[in-house]
Amino acid sequence: MKKIFLLLSLILSILSTIQGQERILCPTPPMGWNTWNCFNRNINEEQIREIADLMISTGLKDAGYTYLVVDDCWQTHREDGVIQADSTKFSSGIQNLATYVHSKGLKFGIYSCAGSETCAGRPGSQGYEYIDAVTYANWGVDFLKYDWCNNNGANAREAYLTMSNALKSTGRPIVLSICEWGTNKPWEWGKGIGDMWRVSEDIIATVEGTTYWGGGSIFKIIDIMTPLWPYAGPGHWNDADMLQVGNGNLTYDENVMHFSMWCMLSSPLMIGCDLRNIDKHTLDILTNKEVIAINQDKLGKQGRMFERSGKYHEIWIKELSDGDIALCFLNKDEKEWILDYHFWGFDIIGLDRTYDRYIVRDVWKHKDIGDTGDKYNFTVPAHGVALFRLTPKQ
Ligand code: GLA
Repeated sequence: MKKIFLLLSLILSILSTIQGQERILCPTPPMGWNTWNCFNRNINEEQIREIADLMISTGLKDAGYTYLVVDDCWQTHREDGVIQADSTKFSSGIQNLATYVHSKGLKFGIYSCAGSETCAGRPGSQGYEYIDAVTYANWGVDFLKYDWCNNNGANAREAYLTMSNALKSTGRPIVLSICEWGTNKPWEWGKGIGDMWRVSEDIIATVEGTTYWGGGSIFKIIDIMTPLWPYAGPGHWNDADMLQVGNGNLTYDENVMHFSMWCMLSSPLMIGCDLRNIDKHTLDILTNKEVIAINQDKLGKQGRMFERSGKYHEIWIKELSDGDIALCFLNKDEKEWILDYHFWGFDIIGLDRTYDRYIVRDVWKHKDIGDTGDKYNFTVPAHGVALFRLTPKQ
């Protein structure tokens, strides 16, 4: 009897270890919408309920966008150590808001900071990690974006590990989005602590250059992401920051390029534009199922640049499950790139599997254009991409 009991407890402990190791909350890059890029500090619960409704009516939820994340400035102070929401802007309370978001079939995300204050000067979680984690879990939070301002010289890995353990101790699965801007190379230690980590300073809605306060232009972030492909995989993603598609003065081709590259890079896709006045072009880009499928491919391999010619022209590849390959021509130039291309060019990069021939499909035009035996003439627009999916020919 004693032996059976010992055997049973051994099996149970092995099973729970395996379960612990397999805690993968984001097998593919998380997708959703976040308040920061369009509303900044001006947020309130009515707006967020409206956004939840719009995520359904615009088809974004059906396209895979499930997390609705409330960024900085929902919180004002602590009472007996417990974080309190702004009582005028969120008068029904965060728990009610989360319940509303859940009633739409969406998941609810919130923001805090590993420092004493958030980047916008609201109370941070430093020293309150466990009490905050329990509060979030009681409210029904599914996702925490955790920032790095006012950290008082803390060790980044330790600070994020503390919050990670606090969240895990609640028993509620809560995605941890590490947001320390790449300062301490989170790709080297973030796996197992968080589910994704930012690699750059805040994205701005421009392709090149910086604003007067700095920030990561779209091309700059692509450059930072380029060598980081070995660190991404199911459950642990390099985060190229929230999308600026539909914001600022980005042209149609720039928006297509931005979205395509975030998909090639297996980045989380968090929309950052105001859904109350989204235009058709922007919505069509964000809901292009063939492009999203490249991002959400279950193999979870981040795309790699395998060829750069000159300063402006890059060719990117992303291995997909079932032997498919995404191939992206990125033109950083201000003028178009005219190509006379033989698709066998990608043969040189040493893929695990190669087939004799592939069907070539343009995923923006939704059209098969031939196969890899042929030569093609095509034009990549200024600051744009041409994006193809190659499928082995049987
Ligand atoms: C930092 C983050 C941003 C945003 C703001 C909020 O700058 O990187 O994404 O969350 O804080 O204050």
